[in-house]
Amino acid sequence: MAKNISFYLNGEKIEIQVDEKDLLVDVIRNRIGLKGTKKGCTNGDCGVCTVLLDGEPIRSCITLACMIDGKEIMTIEGLGNAENVHPIQQAFVEEGAIQCGFCTPGMILTTKALLDKKAKPTTGEIKRALSGNFCRCAGYSKILKAVKTASRNLA
Ligand code: FES
Ligand code: FES
Repeated sequence: MAKNISFYLNGEKIEIQVDEKDLLVDVIRNRIGLKGTKKGCTNGDCGVCTVLLDGEPIRSCITLACMIDGKEIMTIEGLGNAENVHPIQQAFVEEGAIQCGFCTPGMILTTKALLDKKAKPTTGEIKRALSGNFCRCAGYSKILKAVKTASRNLA
Protein backbone atom coordinates (compact mmCIF):
# COMPACT_ATOMS: atom_id res chain seq x y z
CA MET A 1 0.00 0.00 0.00
CA ALA A 2 1.36 3.44 -0.91
CA LYS A 3 1.92 6.07 1.76
CA ASN A 4 2.91 9.73 1.54
CA ILE A 5 5.74 10.60 3.86
CA SER A 6 7.82 13.69 4.48
CA PHE A 7 11.18 13.85 6.15
CA TYR A 8 14.33 15.94 6.17
CA LEU A 9 17.23 14.53 4.21
CA ASN A 10 20.49 16.38 4.81
CA GLY A 11 18.46 19.40 5.87
CA GLU A 12 16.17 19.41 2.84
CA LYS A 13 12.48 18.57 3.14
CA ILE A 14 11.52 15.55 1.04
CA GLU A 15 7.92 14.65 0.28
CA ILE A 16 7.57 11.33 -1.42
CA GLN A 17 5.17 8.46 -1.90
CA VAL A 18 6.55 5.10 -0.85
CA ASP A 19 5.22 1.60 -0.73
CA GLU A 20 4.94 0.14 2.76
CA LYS A 21 7.58 -2.44 1.82
CA ASP A 22 10.12 0.03 0.41
CA LEU A 23 13.46 0.01 2.17
CA LEU A 24 15.06 3.28 3.13
CA VAL A 25 18.33 2.40 1.36
CA ASP A 26 16.45 1.91 -1.93
CA VAL A 27 14.49 5.14 -1.57
CA ILE A 28 17.69 7.09 -0.85
CA ARG A 29 19.71 5.49 -3.63
CA ASN A 30 17.18 4.79 -6.37
CA ARG A 31 14.35 7.29 -5.87
CA ILE A 32 16.33 10.27 -4.55
CA GLY A 33 19.57 9.39 -6.32
CA LEU A 34 22.08 9.74 -3.48
CA LYS A 35 24.49 6.86 -4.06
CA GLY A 36 26.84 7.55 -1.16
CA THR A 37 24.83 5.18 1.00
CA LYS A 38 25.98 1.72 0.01
CA LYS A 39 24.05 -1.52 -0.19
CA GLY A 40 25.87 -4.66 0.83
CA CYS A 41 24.54 -7.61 2.80
CA THR A 42 20.93 -6.26 3.01
CA ASN A 43 20.61 -8.18 6.30
CA GLY A 44 21.67 -5.53 8.78
CA ASP A 45 25.06 -7.19 9.28
CA CYS A 46 27.74 -5.16 7.50
CA GLY A 47 26.95 -1.50 8.20
CA VAL A 48 27.70 -0.12 4.73
CA CYS A 49 24.14 1.24 4.47
CA THR A 50 24.43 3.25 7.71
CA VAL A 51 22.71 6.63 7.82
CA LEU A 52 21.94 8.84 10.80
CA LEU A 53 18.33 8.99 11.99
CA ASP A 54 17.93 11.96 14.31
CA GLY A 55 21.70 11.66 14.91
CA GLU A 56 21.78 7.91 15.63
CA PRO A 57 23.29 5.38 13.24
CA ILE A 58 20.76 3.01 11.70
CA ARG A 59 20.90 0.34 9.00
CA SER A 60 18.93 1.71 6.08
CA CYS A 61 18.71 -1.79 4.52
CA ILE A 62 16.47 -3.03 7.31
CA THR A 63 14.54 0.21 7.84
CA LEU A 64 11.23 0.69 6.11
CA ALA A 65 11.03 4.07 4.43
CA CYS A 66 7.50 4.58 5.80
CA MET A 67 8.97 4.50 9.35
CA ILE A 68 10.97 7.69 8.86
CA ASP A 69 7.99 9.97 8.34
CA GLY A 70 8.71 13.25 10.15
CA LYS A 71 12.32 12.33 11.01
CA GLU A 72 15.71 13.71 10.08
CA ILE A 73 18.09 11.62 8.03
CA MET A 74 21.71 12.40 7.29
CA THR A 75 23.65 10.59 4.59
CA ILE A 76 27.31 11.03 3.76
CA GLU A 77 26.36 13.70 1.21
CA GLY A 78 24.97 15.81 4.06
CA LEU A 79 28.17 15.66 6.06
CA GLY A 80 30.53 17.11 3.52
CA ASN A 81 31.61 17.12 -0.08
CA ALA A 82 34.64 17.84 -2.24
CA GLU A 83 34.29 21.60 -1.76
CA ASN A 84 33.48 21.40 1.93
CA VAL A 85 35.28 18.42 3.40
CA HIS A 86 34.24 17.52 6.94
CA PRO A 87 37.10 17.03 9.45
CA ILE A 88 36.15 13.35 9.85
CA GLN A 89 36.36 12.83 6.10
CA GLN A 90 39.65 14.72 6.06
CA ALA A 91 41.05 12.50 8.81
CA PHE A 92 40.10 9.32 6.89
CA VAL A 93 41.89 10.66 3.82
CA GLU A 94 44.96 11.80 5.78
CA GLU A 95 45.34 8.47 7.55
CA GLY A 96 44.83 6.42 4.38
CA ALA A 97 41.78 4.81 5.97
CA ILE A 98 40.05 4.46 2.60
CA GLN A 99 40.93 1.57 0.31
CA CYS A 100 38.03 0.56 -1.93
CA GLY A 101 35.84 3.03 -0.02
CA PHE A 102 32.77 0.80 0.12
CA CYS A 103 32.58 0.84 3.92
CA THR A 104 33.70 4.45 4.25
CA PRO A 105 30.37 6.36 4.30
CA GLY A 106 29.02 4.07 7.00
CA MET A 107 32.26 4.22 8.99
CA ILE A 108 32.33 8.01 8.82
CA LEU A 109 28.68 8.49 9.81
CA THR A 110 29.07 6.05 12.70
CA THR A 111 32.16 8.01 13.75
CA LYS A 112 30.19 11.25 13.60
CA ALA A 113 27.51 9.87 15.90
CA LEU A 114 30.22 8.67 18.31
CA LEU A 115 32.16 11.96 18.37
CA ASP A 116 28.95 13.98 18.76
CA LYS A 117 28.31 12.03 21.95
CA LYS A 118 31.89 11.77 23.18
CA ALA A 119 34.54 14.10 21.79
CA LYS A 120 37.47 12.04 23.13
CA PRO A 121 36.49 8.37 23.03
CA THR A 122 38.89 5.70 24.24
CA THR A 123 40.24 3.06 21.87
CA GLY A 124 37.78 0.57 23.35
CA GLU A 125 34.87 2.94 22.85
CA ILE A 126 35.85 3.53 19.22
CA LYS A 127 36.13 -0.21 18.58
CA ARG A 128 32.76 -0.83 20.21
CA ALA A 129 31.06 1.96 18.25
CA LEU A 130 32.45 0.68 14.95
CA SER A 131 32.01 -3.01 15.73
CA GLY A 132 28.98 -3.29 13.45
CA ASN A 133 30.75 -1.71 10.48
CA PHE A 134 32.75 -4.21 8.48
CA CYS A 135 35.65 -3.32 6.22
CA ARG A 136 36.21 -6.05 3.68
CA CYS A 137 39.60 -4.49 2.88
CA ALA A 138 40.43 -5.01 6.57
CA GLY A 139 41.75 -1.49 7.01
CA TYR A 140 40.81 -1.44 10.68
CA SER A 141 44.05 -0.08 12.15
CA LYS A 142 44.03 2.92 9.82
CA ILE A 143 40.33 3.49 10.47
CA LEU A 144 41.01 3.50 14.22
CA LYS A 145 43.82 6.00 13.67
CA ALA A 146 41.55 8.17 11.53
CA VAL A 147 38.86 8.32 14.22
CA LYS A 148 41.49 9.40 16.76
CA THR A 149 42.82 12.04 14.37
CA ALA A 150 39.28 13.30 13.72
CA SER A 151 38.67 13.47 17.45
CA ARG A 152 41.83 15.59 17.91
CA ASN A 153 41.06 17.83 14.93
CA LEU A 154 37.50 18.50 16.08
CA ALA A 155 38.57 19.37 19.64
S1 FES B 1 23.71 -3.49 3.63
FE1 FES B 1 22.76 -2.86 5.44
S2 FES B 1 23.87 -3.77 7.02
FE2 FES B 1 24.75 -4.58 5.20
S1 FES C 1 37.90 0.30 2.47
FE1 FES C 1 37.16 -1.39 1.31
S2 FES C 1 35.59 -2.18 2.54
FE2 FES C 1 36.58 -0.78 3.84
